[in-house]
Amino acid sequence: MKVRPAQRIIGDITLSGDKSISHRAAIVASLARGPSIITNFSHSQDCASTLNCLRDIGVSVAAEGNTWRVLGQGLGDFTRPAKSLDCGNSGSTMRMLAGLLAGQDFTSELTGDQSLSSRPMRRIIEPLEMMGAQIESRDGKPPLRISGSRPLRSIQYELPVASAQVKSCVLLAGLHAEGRTSVIERVRTRDHTERMLSWYKAPIEVRDRANGDAEISIAGGTPFFGREVGIPGDPSSAAVIVAAAALLPGSNLTIHALSLNRTRTQFLSELNSLGAEITFEEVRDICNEPVGNVQIKGGLNPSSDKLGLKRLSGELIPHLIDELPLLAVVGSQLPGGLEIRDAGELRVKESDRLSTTVQNLRAMGAEVEEYPDGLAVTGQTKLRGATLDSHGDHRIALAFAVAALLAEGESEIKGAECVAVSFPGFFNLLESLAVR
Ligand code: S3P
Repeated sequence: MKVRPAQRIIGDITLSGDKSISHRAAIVASLARGPSIITNFSHSQDCASTLNCLRDIGVSVAAEGNTWRVLGQGLGDFTRPAKSLDCGNSGSTMRMLAGLLAGQDFTSELTGDQSLSSRPMRRIIEPLEMMGAQIESRDGKPPLRISGSRPLRSIQYELPVASAQVKSCVLLAGLHAEGRTSVIERVRTRDHTERMLSWYKAPIEVRDRANGDAEISIAGGTPFFGREVGIPGDPSSAAVIVAAAALLPGSNLTIHALSLNRTRTQFLSELNSLGAEITFEEVRDICNEPVGNVQIKGGLNPSSDKLGLKRLSGELIPHLIDELPLLAVVGSQLPGGLEIRDAGELRVKESDRLSTTVQNLRAMGAEVEEYPDGLAVTGQTKLRGATLDSHGDHRIALAFAVAALLAEGESEIKGAECVAVSFPGFFNLLESLAVR
């Protein structure tokens, strides 16, 4: 894909439903009894992988426009799949479905594409085996062969990595366990599973412990019933267009019905702290999830106390996890540059996002240092149009499409079609918003 520089971004848009919430809606609807109607379901390839896997274990899933009707089977009433369940590129699909499959009385196999096949799965194998499932893997990596057990044993599990996918996996397995399963989270991660299960009136409780940890617990074996679910617009997709608007002076962008979940809005807060004009209107709840309309006026205008190196680290990282490559691009334009630390998790995403971000920034002429757990980029760089490599990673292709808008001269993004993993139609949308 060739991307030419742009002057500004002008538009008024509504985005497809959030990918994380859509996965959960489809999975929780399958575990409910009776039909659920899901509106504004994500168009992403990742969510299509989840729907396909659910079909393969006997769930009836049908589309009417971008509304899906999912006929829930109830806990434990799925059918043994006739073939391997293909999770495509989607870590969320594999890790969350592993939790569901651990509680079934059959054996199933989860596979994925080349990228997913190299991602770490011990983080879910360990708790699921503690609960009584047996899981074979290729040295902790997919494919996963899961021999379920019914019922599972409940556990109390302290998350060793700050991962919403692992938390969700254990909670979904906990629905199939005897007694209460709890997950202790020291660093908070996105809480869509908790919100979706509570929308479905499943027996989930979230409690703050005296030491500041969160304890999320769920009782196994209690049925819940189909519901209507509306999905808010995807804030991680929005972040790409928002970044472009914030970086290009004169931009004016409105996004309707966007997720404003506090575990996802840190990116907007960061841009706001850098002087981007961001306003919220019609803030409301849809199915336990906060949403609102967001207006962004470009460009960035940091106050004098924000002119130094911007640092992102610690507990902020899980709240920015999918936006970090994009923030590195933003950092190349800040007066004092940007440093990201404590983000070693980026190395085990769809690509090694620290190295793929550094490589592409350097190709555009930025000065970047790479650390084992982060990177530092020098600010106020006039980026040069270049040949960029997505490495098949949607977040990298999207982040560098924004970089290409700022650059001098045209850029070419190799493997750009991977944007469909989270954001199909991205390049057409960008063309309709970019003023040249
Ligand atoms: C996700 C959680 C994050 C995120 C991924 C989606 C989710 O992964 O990077 O894109 O939907 O729970 P981890 O929680 O494993 O970091």
